[in-house]
Amino acid sequence: MVEFCIIYDKVRFEEKELYDKARRRGLNTHIIDAKSISIGTNSKKNDLDLGDIVLQRSISHYRGLYLTACLEFLGFLVINSFKVGEICGNKLLTSIMLAKQNIPTPTTHFAFSSESLSNLINKTGFPLVVKPIVGSWGRGVFPLRDSEAANMIVELREEDDNPLSRIYYIQEMVKRPPRDLRCIVVGDRVVAAVYRYSADKEWRTNIARGGRTEEASITKELEDITLKAAKVVGGGVLGVDLMEDDTRGLLVHEINNTVEFRGASKVAKTDIANAIIDYSIEAARK
Ligand SMILES: Nc1ncnc2c1ncn2[C@@H]1O[C@H](COP(=O)(O)OP(=O)(O)O)[C@@H](O)[C@H]1O
Ligand SMILES: [Mg+2]
Repeated sequence: MVEFCIIYDKVRFEEKELYDKARRRGLNTHIIDAKSISIGTNSKKNDLDLGDIVLQRSISHYRGLYLTACLEFLGFLVINSFKVGEICGNKLLTSIMLAKQNIPTPTTHFAFSSESLSNLINKTGFPLVVKPIVGSWGRGVFPLRDSEAANMIVELREEDDNPLSRIYYIQEMVKRPPRDLRCIVVGDRVVAAVYRYSADKEWRTNIARGGRTEEASITKELEDITLKAAKVVGGGVLGVDLMEDDTRGLLVHEINNTVEFRGASKVAKTDIANAIIDYSIEAARK
C-alpha cells in the first residue's frame, strides 16, 4: 500500500483536507513538521519515516525548496520537485520561462538598481505594478500610478535587508475586470477554475486579501493555456493564475507551487484534495 507524507510548516485548511481525505481512504498517512527535520550528507532514505511519496506543503518558500532538495538527494519523490519549486517560487524565473515558451503573459521588466528602474520608468511611463520576486498572498504587490508611489517603494526597498529587494520586478498594469482566474492543475488536468473577485477598496484579488471566489467554466481556451503554462514550468500540482486583458484575452501572470485551494474548493465541483491524492498515488506507482 502507498504510504503518503504531507510536510508542512503551518497547518492550513489544505493540509488538513489532504490529511483527512488520505486517512479516510485508508492510506498510511504521515504529517510532518518541516521544522522538525534535519538531514546530512551521510543521511539515508530509511533514516526518515516518510513513506513513498512526499507532498511538500511548507509555506516558507526557502524552507520548502531546500528541504525538497535534501529529500530528493535522499531519493524521495517530492511533489512538487525542486526544479518546479525553484521556478514557480520566483516570479522573475517564471516570467522568463513563460515568455521563452510564448505563453501569453503580461509584459514585465527587471531592473537591477534604483537608477536602472528610474530609466526604465522614464521609457514605459505609468501605470505599472511592482512585485517582490519571491512572495505570495499579494504581499508587496503594489500598483504604481505615479512617480511619488515609485519613489516610496524604492526608498523602502533600498533600505531593507533582503538582497532580493534591490531587484525590481515591474509589470505593465493589465486592464482587467476586478477579478482574476485561479486554475488548479493536477498533473495533466485542470481540476478546478475559479474567478477571484477583489474585496471592497482592494485592488488585488488574492483570497488572503479578502477576495471571494466564484466558479468559472473550464473553457477549451482556458484549459489549453493553463496546461501549457503548467508544462513549461515542469508540471505537478500547481495553481495557474491568469488575468483577462481587455484586448489580448488570457494572460498567465503567476504559477503557484504550493497551491492553496480553500477558496476554490468552496465552489468547485471536483474534490481537489482527492484529485491531488490520486495524482500522488499514480506518481508513486510510476
Ligand atoms: N500586472 C497586473 N495588472 C493588474 N493586476 C495585477 C497585476 N499583477 C498582479 N495583479 C493583481 O495582484 C494580485 C497579486 O499578484 P500576484 O502576481 O499573483 O502575486 P502573489 O504571488 O502575491 O499572489 C493578482 O492576483 C492580481 O489581482
Ligand atoms: Mg497570486
